[in-house]
Amino acid sequence: MAIFLSNRRNLCHPRYNAVASGLSDLLHWMQSYMCKKQRGDSTLHLSATAAPRISPRMEIALANHAATQTPAKVRPASIANWLLFVALLVFAMVVVGGITRLTESGLSITEWKPVSGALPPLNEAAWVSEFEKYKQIPEYTEINGPAGMTLAQFKFIYFWEWVHRLLGRLIGLAFALPLVWFWVKQAIPAGYKPRLVALFALGGLQGAIGWWMVSSGLSARTDVSHYRLAVHLLTALFILGGLVWTALDLKALARNSAAKPAKLTGFAAVVLAILFVQLLFGAWVAGLNAGYVSNSWPLMNDRFYPAGVDVGRGMLSALANDPFLTHFVHRWWAWVAVIALIMLARRTKKAGVRSASIAIHSAFGVQILLGIATVMTGVNIVLAVLHQAVGALVVASAAWGVHVIGRNDGQ
Ligand code: HEM
Repeated sequence: MAIFLSNRRNLCHPRYNAVASGLSDLLHWMQSYMCKKQRGDSTLHLSATAAPRISPRMEIALANHAATQTPAKVRPASIANWLLFVALLVFAMVVVGGITRLTESGLSITEWKPVSGALPPLNEAAWVSEFEKYKQIPEYTEINGPAGMTLAQFKFIYFWEWVHRLLGRLIGLAFALPLVWFWVKQAIPAGYKPRLVALFALGGLQGAIGWWMVSSGLSARTDVSHYRLAVHLLTALFILGGLVWTALDLKALARNSAAKPAKLTGFAAVVLAILFVQLLFGAWVAGLNAGYVSNSWPLMNDRFYPAGVDVGRGMLSALANDPFLTHFVHRWWAWVAVIALIMLARRTKKAGVRSASIAIHSAFGVQILLGIATVMTGVNIVLAVLHQAVGALVVASAAWGVHVIGRNDGQ
């Protein structure tokens, strides 16, 4: 009974009055039984008639409670915490991914060995061999070779790509092992297994997308395709949002075992679509090195609409490939994204979750400032990495916001 009560969040709710009065009946009866026993009372007996009768109100309250209880083995709160931990690792991965890209380290490991690649070169001969492989690709023959790259410099770029891949492997383990554990222990609530498996599969796919991206920069060109880079970054952000969303569903289930998963409302879909466009252009700006085409704000090199946009192959092609135009769209679409996020934040506040509103406002506010600062410093590496990190926080807070407004448990 004590555990039952201690698990409830709002003991003042009327449904617990009956439980409380029944509990007091029970305590009263236990006390009188102990006193009689101490006195050696001959009338002491434990017949059903001597025991307190559970009041009808309490019976109803207990029956209601039992009806809404999940099976004892199910552990939605623990699974939610585990998913939030994995989300934290994915966030770290996005940050390391940003560092890898901005230090031009992404092409330093020219093979994909999911298992044996976990170990870096362990002696000088192994390092020289890795460097020799790198010397075959255009990034070395056309850029780093002529610039006189040394083995020590190669070790630096190798380090970041290796850490990025190692973190990917660790995330795989941090997801797979607890998943198997919760599965075997039958702790996964009904309906959540397909979602967890899908998230795991997406993580695996993300590894393959990463290699698909890297392979685009190993033969014909000196950098990776900005389309593939966008797929890689957006999949990472989608996984992050999916983890947050699923964890929030499970937290709601832990609070109220009758809670259904949140739904994506039409309004939320519009907000996410607007945000998606912003993230897509951000990824293209990053992939095309388009942050460098102007270091002034709000004007781009003294003009609102930049000079130099190449529309030779049509406007659509320019939108997706021209560094000036992608940069232009990204810096101004940001304000559309801001308006959408403000509207989302207002609705979360109205739904009673002020903390989600604060998170959304803080994330996009800092992100705008970082974006402007990144431009005005000519893509300072620290600011650009922070812009990528806070971009992930914008996504996480938006996932929280759309979950709040799609929730059905009223909490
Ligand atoms: C809600 C607002 C914004 C979001 C969600 C957002 C998101 C992103 C994302 C995901 C990227 C790709 C990864 C990276 O950070 O490098 C990016 C890149 C970039 N963004 Fe934004 N951004 C926003 C606003 C802005 C603004 C207002 C500016 C400038 C005025 C800006 C300038 C840039 C630049 C220059 C890059 C490329 C940086 C690089 O090469 O690493 N962003 N943005």
